[in-house]
Amino acid sequence: MDSHKICVAPMMQYTDMHDRFLLRLISKNIFLYTEMISTGSIIFGNCLNQFDFNNEEHPVGVQLGGSNPKHLAECAKVAEKYGYDEINLNVGCPSERVQKGRFGACLMLEPELVAECVSEMSKSVDLPVTVKCRLGIDDREDYEFLSNFVEIVKSAGVSTFIVHARNGLLKGLSPRQNRNIPPLKYDYVYRLKQENKDLNIIINGGIKDLTESKNHLEKVDGVMIGRASYDNPFMLADVDELIFNETTNRKNKVEILNEYLDYVTVMHSKGHDLSRMLKHLFGLSKGDTQAKAFRRKVHETILDGDIVNSRNELIALI
Ligand SMILES: Cc1cc2nc3c(=O)[nH]c(=O)nc-3n(C[C@H](O)[C@H](O)[C@H](O)COP(=O)(O)O)c2cc1C
Repeated sequence: MDSHKICVAPMMQYTDMHDRFLLRLISKNIFLYTEMISTGSIIFGNCLNQFDFNNEEHPVGVQLGGSNPKHLAECAKVAEKYGYDEINLNVGCPSERVQKGRFGACLMLEPELVAECVSEMSKSVDLPVTVKCRLGIDDREDYEFLSNFVEIVKSAGVSTFIVHARNGLLKGLSPRQNRNIPPLKYDYVYRLKQENKDLNIIINGGIKDLTESKNHLEKVDGVMIGRASYDNPFMLADVDELIFNETTNRKNKVEILNEYLDYVTVMHSKGHDLSRMLKHLFGLSKGDTQAKAFRRKVHETILDGDIVNSRNELIALI
């Protein structure tokens, strides 16, 4: 599935609709995901604005967190009406809050329930339903645990798995530690692809740049990048040419910044929070000689709220 060759990972508090708009200015071909939206917040909290997104974001998938098949199906239907391109189920988040809700990574221990969830969702929407999971949970370090999980969920109709290539530890590690401490085992994900040629396998975890991504793409169908592309979104500027062989109009940083500031101005006038939109710019100057001064100016603009007056200086610093 070519559309998933380079995906940007769902990240709570980071990959919101504004960040995704910014990323789409940088690459036409990356596949985007929302932050995780829990079914509880939709069904009981009625927080439907979490589904809001910009038309420009396509292709974009919504990530749901939950384990009640009926609730998931209901949320999937709403997401489909909103116009998303894919529904993804979170089977990778190890946080205690999420465990208490019996969803996220702990669902890897209940593959039959995951199969029921995805099957219920698939029945209610015409969109592809995909799963993002870990290699295993706690001391289940064996490849067979992963392949058994995939086998069962695959039989419910899932053909795309995004695998964060490390175990999730449900006790004793914070979510942050769970993204760094359990060792990466890319070979498990490669083997999964080798043994399931019919599946789209996307590899995730610790991938730093497009050179590494290209190497992974020799073995799997897609790569998902999270922290590296948030810290340095411009690393994605070469995706269209290097990965998709499209010699498109690659935008430079000034063009990207100008278009993003136009967007921020419009969204601010509609009531969107300025700091939430501008904070995504911190990484844009990564690697530049004036990076520090640019970040300082972004920070100042967040504080004084005056985009009009800051614009020229921001442009001069990028
Ligand atoms: C701040 C933060 C928030 C995250 N939120 C989510 C989330 O909502 N859903 C999810 O599946 N993974 C979430 N993740 C995990 C990432 O999607 C990804 O699997 C992980 O960061 C490993 O990829 P990376 O090494 O490229 O960052 C989050 C990661 C970070 C750093």
